Amino acid sequence: MILVTGGTGLVGSHLLYHLSQQEDKIRAIHRPESDLLKVKNVFGYYTDQPEILFNKIEWVETSLNDISELEKVFNQITRVYHCAAVVSFDPKDYRIMRKVNIEGTENIVNLSILNKIDKLCFVSSIATLSKSVDGKEITEENFWTNTQGKSGYAITKQGAEAAMWRAGQEGVKVVIVNPGVILGPGFWEKGTGKLFDKIYKGFKYYTTGVTGFVGVNDVVKVMMQLMESNLKNERFILVAENASFKDIFFQIADHFGVKRPHKKVSSFLSEIGWKLAWIKGKFLNKAPDLTKYSARASHQKKYYSSKKIKNALDFSFEPLKKTIETTCKKYLKDRT
Ligand SMILES: NC(=O)c1ccc[n+]([C@@H]2O[C@H](COP(=O)([O-])OP(=O)(O)OC[C@H]3O[C@@H](n4cnc5c(N)ncnc54)[C@H](OP(=O)(O)O)[C@@H]3O)[C@@H](O)[C@H]2O)c1
Repeated sequence: MILVTGGTGLVGSHLLYHLSQQEDKIRAIHRPESDLLKVKNVFGYYTDQPEILFNKIEWVETSLNDISELEKVFNQITRVYHCAAVVSFDPKDYRIMRKVNIEGTENIVNLSILNKIDKLCFVSSIATLSKSVDGKEITEENFWTNTQGKSGYAITKQGAEAAMWRAGQEGVKVVIVNPGVILGPGFWEKGTGKLFDKIYKGFKYYTTGVTGFVGVNDVVKVMMQLMESNLKNERFILVAENASFKDIFFQIADHFGVKRPHKKVSSFLSEIGWKLAWIKGKFLNKAPDLTKYSARASHQKKYYSSKKIKNALDFSFEPLKKTIETTCKKYLKDRT
């Protein structure tokens, strides 16, 4: 039996859809406040009968930090896909990210070792890779030497990876994926989904920073292929293309047929922007729209290599143009 964590999020819901086409024994955890209808909606993007596949999943209400419930959840599990995490660049979420991303992952690792799980697939991030010093593309070998200047999110994903390497040393086969910014449909109120929503509604600003992007269906296809493969105790960057935020924003606007963002934001303006957003957030008691880390990241130019996964699985990524086109179509479908 397969266990999936984070099944109610962007990656996990797409993973559950693809898994449910091939497997009959799938268990997924969710929290009491999770919206399972969103998962069904994701299934509905790809099949006319989402109920049939959705009903194959055994849902268990628990959290990564509830060890006694998790112990029961591991009954009869042979493989684990660990996608759950808190994704935030707001410094006030650092504590909760340590709790969920590090301690929660340690719980998954400890139970995987205890239950002699065959294989564990963990969704990490390119945030755990260090900059390239010689101008070359960043690879899986770019390990950090210290946490200076790193976001709380990056530090906690790094902590989770450390737990995974321990699982590898204690007999569980482990594969780690390090996706770039993941694009895909279904979660329009957060993450990159929110970006599609903002651009559709006339977002004006863009920056020229560069990073790696990848479509969500490619992320989950690679995860499943890695689980079927003999590969173990390795990590793999998943980036379809390196692209500028400007290019991505323009492509989204063009697919929607709306005006392209037209105000280029300098690093100086971004610095002012995140400080103002912080003050506004304090006054309104809301998460800021822009944080120091997201503002700075939007100007950095980082190029990632996906050579390792392409060679290991003979995998070809979907071009971003296509991913953006299909995501825009699904956004428009959800609005009607
Ligand atoms: N999105 C990206 O661009 C991106 C890029 C690189 C890597 N990643 C990584 O990919 C993974 C999936 O990201 P995503 O975009 O799918 O995130 P997401 O849409 O925000 O989903 C996060 C998932 O984690 C679950 N979760 C959060 N706290 C939990 C807890 N305490 N116990 C159990 N489940 C909990 C959520 O469940 P609830 O329904 O209960 O909230 C949700 O299912 C994460 O590990 C993230 O770090 C994401």
